[in-house]
Amino acid sequence: MLSARSLFQEILDNDESFRLFCSIAAGGESQGGWENARIAALVPRSERDLAPKITRHGADEDKHGRIFHALLRKRGLTPVPVPADTDYTMILERHGIGLAHDRLRADRPLTVPDIITYLAHSRVTEQRASEQMELLRRYFADHQDVGRAVRVISGDEDNHLAYCHEELLSFAAAGHGRTIQRTLRACALAEIRIHRDVSLAVMARMGRILGWRRTRSALLACGIHAVYAYERAAGWRRMVSLRMPERRNALGGPPTPAPEFA
Ligand SMILES: [Fe+2]
Ligand SMILES: [Fe+2]
Repeated sequence: MLSARSLFQEILDNDESFRLFCSIAAGGESQGGWENARIAALVPRSERDLAPKITRHGADEDKHGRIFHALLRKRGLTPVPVPADTDYTMILERHGIGLAHDRLRADRPLTVPDIITYLAHSRVTEQRASEQMELLRRYFADHQDVGRAVRVISGDEDNHLAYCHEELLSFAAAGHGRTIQRTLRACALAEIRIHRDVSLAVMARMGRILGWRRTRSALLACGIHAVYAYERAAGWRRMVSLRMPERRNALGGPPTPAPEFA
């Protein structure tokens, strides 16, 4: 049977595929943590109220990275290097989506347009993160090894998405609506393509580790292309809409610790 659930179950059950999955996930999370910490450090004076929320955003992503490493440790596994073609965060950066790492390494304050770029990039990627974690939560919320991790991360990603909506709406109200729409659109259209390519690369590697038959791999690749076709035709629009979230000021407090992992 070929379902998202059975697919994840298979990846979870095998040490090598689980190792690759957690290593890729941890790499992306830590990268996000670093980016947010740098952005928080370079927030322009006019937007300094945002700094603690960006710091919290980064602290959450770092925590997610530690959680994935803890899952590996619990199974007696060590991380593997993230293959370049599966490195979602770095590929986005290379395609000019979000703020360039060179810019973040420089010690020059960011500008308001930079902050909008950061928020738009996060609006799109947090939508992806939130949906993927929601899927995992649906199937594995009660799983004895990964259930707690999945619930913690999923809740955080929902908060990150809510925060992006709220802050972008406030910039839109301040007159940046057109820039925001333009940036969101460019981010979303690039993201869906990169997400497709990374998914194909990850699945090809999983297929080799798990010894999938050629028909199974072909079917999965077909599914990934079908998702892209849908996202290119209409689905991308869900990544660029803005609405006030039910939960306001979602990143207003200190990060919720996950002591059993970190
Ligand atoms: Fe995360
Ligand atoms: Fe996030």
